Amino acid sequence: MNHQSDPPLTLVVLISNQGSNLQAIIDAIANQEIHGKILAVVSNNPDAPGLDKAQKAGIATAVTERSGFATRKDFDHHLLQLVRAYDPGLVVLAGFMLILDDNFVNHFHGRLLNVHPSLLPKYPGLNTYGRVLDANDAVHGCSIHFVSSQLDGGPVVAQSEVPVRVNDSKDSLSARVQDAEHKLYPMVIGWFARGRLRCEHETITLDGKLLEKPRVIAFTDPAETVESG
Ligand code: GAR
Repeated sequence: MNHQSDPPLTLVVLISNQGSNLQAIIDAIANQEIHGKILAVVSNNPDAPGLDKAQKAGIATAVTERSGFATRKDFDHHLLQLVRAYDPGLVVLAGFMLILDDNFVNHFHGRLLNVHPSLLPKYPGLNTYGRVLDANDAVHGCSIHFVSSQLDGGPVVAQSEVPVRVNDSKDSLSARVQDAEHKLYPMVIGWFARGRLRCEHETITLDGKLLEKPRVIAFTDPAETVESG
């Protein structure tokens, strides 16, 4: 495990929109819940409100748009070079809504995390809220996973469940899931920053023990966070 005196984990965070998870990570670093430093925030969307959040926190930003490149391959190549130039210890996908190519995923293997608004392997892809409501599921949630070349694939580290209420709309449900994301993602990044969490090939270890299934974290009340699984 790393110690307080070790250099902070260096991060590059990729976003496309609001950046509420980015803000939660910025706050967790400020509160020393994550022993880390964000080197840069990269967005594929020049209008992403998350860019303002980064700038307010004094973090460097970079924008790279798909439309600026003749082919998707050129864009993917540029994105990899851009992020690689920072030489981050961890790449954090925080609402980055483009699929990364194999070169990117392989280059950052074991140090590329994503947050997804579902209890994976249920509901990969988009519109998880609509699909959960249509299916009348009683429970929804979020997952933090290492990224593989499969869409929303790769080994899941941790999940948090939230109840689906009778009168939920997509908005009310997403607000509840995002609340959980804002706690779960910093927690997992904090584990990684402390050297507690590792991923080699498709195998995850937490505190030196093989993690055979995702750690399930219940955020009932800040004072009584319950870990199981
Ligand atoms: C988050 O809820 C995240 O789970 C989702 O995008 C949102 C971004 O919000 N990601 C995906 O759907 C990836 N498949 P934010 O920009 O406010 O952090």
